[in-house]
Parts: sequence; C-alpha cells; structure tokens
Amino acid sequence: MKPMPLLTISSKETIEKCANLEVQDSDIFLCSYPKSGTTWSQFIVISLVLLQRKKENLQDVEYGHVSEFAPFFEIDPHWDGENLISSICEKHKLLGRRIFNTHLRGDILPKRVQKGGKSIGKFVYITRNPLDVCVSFYHHLSHQMEGRYEKSLEEFYEEWVNGEIPFGSWSDHIVSYANLMANDEVLHISYEDLLLDPKSCLIRLVEFLELDQIKEKDIMSLLPTFSFASMKKDITRFQPKSVTWIGNFSFLRKGLIGDNKNELQEEIRKDYSDNLKKLVESFEHDSSIAR
Ligand code: A3P
Repeated sequence: MKPMPLLTISSKETIEKCANLEVQDSDIFLCSYPKSGTTWSQFIVISLVLLQRKKENLQDVEYGHVSEFAPFFEIDPHWDGENLISSICEKHKLLGRRIFNTHLRGDILPKRVQKGGKSIGKFVYITRNPLDVCVSFYHHLSHQMEGRYEKSLEEFYEEWVNGEIPFGSWSDHIVSYANLMANDEVLHISYEDLLLDPKSCLIRLVEFLELDQIKEKDIMSLLPTFSFASMKKDITRFQPKSVTWIGNFSFLRKGLIGDNKNELQEEIRKDYSDNLKKLVESFEHDSSIAR
C-alpha cells in the first residue's frame, strides 16, 4: 500500500485512527479526490437525510455550515486522542447518524466489516473529469492566503500528474476505488452526471442510502436548492471556514464541465488524454469514471 501523502493538517497518526474507525451501519462516507464536487455532495446528502428525518416526524435539527454534519474526517483538529472530538459527536447524535467527508484513498478507508455478506456503512465515491479537477485545484491552492501555491498552472499540472501535491495523484485515487466500485461496495456518482441529470443521481443516492420516505416529488422540490447559483448565494455555508481567499476568489468558482479547455494548453490536454484513455480502458465496468 502506498502511503497517503501527508498534509500539514493530517498526521500519520490521524490517518491511522481514521483507517481503524469502527464503521456503523448507518454511517455515510462521502469520498472524493479534492475538487470533485465534495461540498456539493455534502449539501445534497445532508438535505436528503434531514428530509427523511422530517418525514419520520423526528425532531427538526438545524445547521449552518455543511461541515457541522459532514465533517472532514482525516484532519488532526477533528481528533482528540483516540476519538473524534465531542462537538462532532454531538452533532452526529443530533442527526441520528454520522456523515463524513473524506479524501482518503480507497485502500486506506476504515474497514467495512461484512455481516452476512453485507458491507457495513454507506460509501459514496464522487468523481470528476480529471483535467477539470486539476484546474479547479490549481485555482483553489493559488488563491488561499496561507500556504498559497505560487507557480504556474503548467507547473502545477506536472506536480499534480506526478502526485507531488496534497492528497497525491488523481490516478492513484481512482485506481484505489476501482475494486470497491466494481464490487458495488461504493456508489459511484460523477460530477458530470450530477450536473447533467441530477434527478437520476438523486434517485440512485436515495435508494443506496435507503432513505425510504423520500419520493420522486420530494427530489424534484429539492433540486433547485442544489444548483450552482442557489448555493453560491449562500456561500458562507459551503466554503472552508479555515481558509482566507486572495482577491475576489469564490470557492464556488465556475461549476462547469470541460472548462479546462479554456485554461490548459492543447499539448497538456493531448498528453493527458493519451494517458487517461489507457486508465479509463482499464475500468471496463464503468467508463463514466473519467470522461
Ligand atoms: P470549480 O472550481 O471548477 O468551480 P470540492 O467541493 O470537492 O472542493 O469541489 C469544488 C468544485 O465543485 C468547484 O469547482 C465548485 O464550483 C464546484 N461546485 C460546487 N457546488 C456546485 C454546484 N452546485 N454545481 C456545480 N458545481 C459545483
């Protein structure tokens, strides 16, 4: 197993604690490589879980920032000794189940104990076109005040391809989830499907998460709240609380499919699509992994 590239916010000890967490059947893990639509999926899943609660006539619970109910799993400040910090546990208690967002690779995820052949917990993997991920990641890192990335997009691309950046290489991440996806241990949702056909994605999510009270009409009424424009109006609930942005950068930056065409040189795009094609061909079971 390749070690997960360490971040200043995630020590080796914390990553080990995450890998050893005892998963509960009601847990939801939203897994992704950075910039793949993590925050979007956090908001969608929290909204669905809250609606299910409402329909079960459970007590209304409120929240401000998406990280309150779906915190980032593998960062040091979220662990206190061997356990998750109490403020996270309390929020999850209020919600009645735990939701986590994680960028851990598939081979480092907590173990999903099998009970009667059934995988424990719900794991969702969100993917996005890699070059769009690369461009989005570059803008994110080059606009954060602390630890700002100061080189060019072309230099970032080289480091990103080689995995010399926080969270490592996109390809390694995708490969680490390949078997989990093939064995239906995780639900795969792509950013592109979410944008082009949100209704079908939400139906798949609701079924996978076994939110049996949520019907198609409920999904239809929630959909407008998940649009880029609607979320952008409420951006303080979505952008990372710990980051100060340079200039007028918006964490909800463009929200487009294929915008890398406008930023990356043709040569880079050609080089990557040659490489990517080989990777995609190895994912015969699901070619939507890397469009
Ligand atoms: P861009 O930088 O290309 O705009 P993450 O949450 O994993 O960091 O991903 C952030 C990316 O998801 C950003 O991409 C952001 O704009 C996009 N995003 C977030 N919410 C979205 C939505 N409702 N519709 C489309 N894109 C969205």
